[in-house]
Amino acid sequence: MGEVQIIGTGSYVPERILTNDEISKIIDTNDQWIRSRTGIGERRITTGENTSKIAAKAAINALKNASINAEDIDLIIVATTTPDCYTPSTACIVQSLIGASRAVCFDISAACSGFIYALNIAYQFLRNGAMKNALIIGGETLSKILDWNDRGTCVLFGDGAGAAVLSIGNEEGVLGNYMASDGRGSDLLKCDAAPVDINNNILRKEVLGDEVYKNSKYLSMEGKEIFKFAVKVMEETIEKLLEEAKLDLSNIDYIIPHQANLRIIDHTIKKLDIDKEKFYINLQSYGNTSAASIPIALDEMNRKGLLKKGQNILMVGFGGGLTWGGSIIKWCK
Ligand code: COA
Repeated sequence: MGEVQIIGTGSYVPERILTNDEISKIIDTNDQWIRSRTGIGERRITTGENTSKIAAKAAINALKNASINAEDIDLIIVATTTPDCYTPSTACIVQSLIGASRAVCFDISAACSGFIYALNIAYQFLRNGAMKNALIIGGETLSKILDWNDRGTCVLFGDGAGAAVLSIGNEEGVLGNYMASDGRGSDLLKCDAAPVDINNNILRKEVLGDEVYKNSKYLSMEGKEIFKFAVKVMEETIEKLLEEAKLDLSNIDYIIPHQANLRIIDHTIKKLDIDKEKFYINLQSYGNTSAASIPIALDEMNRKGLLKKGQNILMVGFGGGLTWGGSIIKWCK
């Protein structure tokens, strides 16, 4: 047994940029409203690549960064709200795309907290000696489940993927993990799968009615409730993580929040009186990419050379489920 560390990161976002101005040509919104209420300026949207393709590209970049071969990966976890299909898992498709033939593969559904959950799951497998190398990916093509007639949701989200390779080493690279869920809030942010027909279990539009049929495919959200929840659990998660790792904020070099809304982040900064400089924020360029948001940010920081050996990085996420959680990692590269 050894210590668990992140040894490489990667990300990929589709080339197509969708600006606020472009969205305002489709629905009744405008750049000023979106920027002032969310901080988002533009987002990427897929032009045909499904989640597995986007996730595989991020994974290949992470393997390169970690200097590890795909065949050496024991475990692939894809955290996604937007899998290619009900079955097989997106992780299995990624496995075949990248040639990680030895890996055990599965997806997890924890919405925007997905990467944090995946990190914690992989950590457990590595920490207990069952496996040596894990590839965790947050990958989304949210554009395919957005209702482009709903200005309260469609302006917020974007597509992309981020990945990290976890491996066994000598130094302790994961200092704290925290996860929580509350299913009582499951209706606040949701996207239905195919509904069940009570008569014969065969989906028919006539049975379900047009409205149910139409609404079943898109993401819906109670924005204000989610906002209140997010502010509350950001604070809770940061405090729990610091307690578990026996650190205080002065020991934390960077905070990577889930990139949902700048106002949610600003609330946390004020409430906990944290130096804004500690927060890494890129939501202006990508919007909310759900499970991909934290690993895309981590990879950007890595590639920009911001992360130095020995630094402590606190990651905090929240989302549908409701789910929330975080990790404190020590950068060991
Ligand atoms: N453009 C222009 N106007 C918009 C709009 C848009 N894209 N979306 C909503 N509006 C309008 C509303 O229709 C409403 O108009 P009305 O007063 O005439 O009814 C007005 O703006 C205020 O809407 P409201 O929903 O009260 O705005 P808000 O300040 O709560 O901001 C969100 C809306 C979605 C930005 C905000 O609630 C939010 O960010 N919530 C959290 C969402 C989130 O992060 N989800 C993901 C979590 S993982």
